[in-house]
Amino acid sequence: MLQIPPKHLPYLHKIAEAAQEVAVDSYVVGGYVRDLLLGKGAKDIDIVCVGNGIDLAKAAAKRFPDNPKVVVFKNFGTAMFKADGFEFEFVGARKESYQRNSRKPVVEDGTLEDDQNRRDFTINAMAISLNEDFGQLIDPFEGQEDLRQGLIRTPLDPHTTFSDDPLRMMRAIRFATQLDFDILPETYQAISAMSDRLKIVSMERIIVELNKIILARKPSTGFKLLFNSGLLAQFFPEFCNLQGVDEKEGLRHKDNFYHTLQVLDNLSQNSDDLWLRWAAILHDIAKPPTKRFERGHGWTFHGHDALGAKMVPRIFRNLKLPLNDRMKFVQKLVALHLRPISLTKENVTDSAIRRLLFDAGDDIDALMLLCQADITSKNANKVKRFLENYEMVRQKLHQVEEKDRIRNWQPPISGDEIMATFSIRPSREVGILKNAIKEAILEGEIPNKYEDAYAFMLRLGSKIGLEANIENEEKFLENDPPSS
Ligand code: CTP
Repeated sequence: MLQIPPKHLPYLHKIAEAAQEVAVDSYVVGGYVRDLLLGKGAKDIDIVCVGNGIDLAKAAAKRFPDNPKVVVFKNFGTAMFKADGFEFEFVGARKESYQRNSRKPVVEDGTLEDDQNRRDFTINAMAISLNEDFGQLIDPFEGQEDLRQGLIRTPLDPHTTFSDDPLRMMRAIRFATQLDFDILPETYQAISAMSDRLKIVSMERIIVELNKIILARKPSTGFKLLFNSGLLAQFFPEFCNLQGVDEKEGLRHKDNFYHTLQVLDNLSQNSDDLWLRWAAILHDIAKPPTKRFERGHGWTFHGHDALGAKMVPRIFRNLKLPLNDRMKFVQKLVALHLRPISLTKENVTDSAIRRLLFDAGDDIDALMLLCQADITSKNANKVKRFLENYEMVRQKLHQVEEKDRIRNWQPPISGDEIMATFSIRPSREVGILKNAIKEAILEGEIPNKYEDAYAFMLRLGSKIGLEANIENEEKFLENDPPSS
């Protein structure tokens, strides 16, 4: 008999009563049972019944307060409703593979045993009875023992289980990474042998698993398994290209694949932000295409920051990641990831600090976290020196921000105002003036004030042959800036 949390018992009793009403046997299955045995909380409760899952869902929903709305997926023979912050999903037992989100319609009904046979891993194939033997664990493949030993193993021959749904190869690695489990060698060998079958799986499904790996405590574990099994090459070749070390004239560069994974692990100790973790994954992505050997100097990767930022949108598009402000954030961090290190020099100027604050804006703290994670030297003294230098940069950033308030800053004169002042249409001149004002403030040539910027604009405008219209000039002379 399993210890079911007291809070969940009333739900399961309601479902058991509904199952009696529609005369089917029913069971809780999958992730709920696994997480219960692992002592983790669950938010989804999956129910399998030997019969029609949709009918059971409808009968069960009626027993919950406010009779929650049942959403039916007729093609898949599933139905679900939400109640009390939980999602209850119902399905009839089936003979063929169980795949959530699969487009394959259900064809053949089966027994509980058929259903368990067709699940992905022994630890996900356990069931709790909601019948006369309520609460009894049904564990035909010793999933409980695999949980104890920390093993990912398929219930059937792995080739059969993975042929049913090749995404399960990713899921094996995802669970191994999340739970810190080993994959049974026979199961892992099948993944290596069948890795190219992942090609038939949609990128939308792959990325869900990849993001779960990225959000694990130590994502490098998953990436190494993905790489070594050949799965990573199926959908993310740019990342595989980072692997390898070249040698010339006795000079070698570091292996950028393992370096990147170290950066990702370092960062993951300090941040749970998926997108900051993506920035770590992509920060050196352009090292392979920018790699050169310079005689007498060694290996260089000039411009890998700028090219890397340029590569981000295509990578996001290929991986079906969102093409929104999250992508822009990643792109920005990749573009700026070398900047803080250049500020660790002794005699760095305030204007260099202001520029970084301006370019990074509110993402400055994320950028500093990334750069700190980028220190992967094995030399403890070097690491200490780097960390101290970063602390110095942090202090300088803080001092300059206190003084000049550059973070979130917009130059005081807009393009519209420039056009109105000189009665010109959108043109190259507007850009030149706007940029010059920004540069003059960041360089400290003029104070960060409206009046100074306005005077600067008039001087520069007249230098490049623009005539200010009288009304505006008068306003300026009266020292009464137009509100904008
Ligand atoms: N399942 C499967 N094959 C898949 C996907 C799912 O056999 N490709 C089965 C497994 O039994 C799994 C259950 O469906 O336990 C529910 O799937 P899902 O909700 O995706 O995963 P969970 O196991 O609940 O884990 P998590 O909540 O961490 O995603």
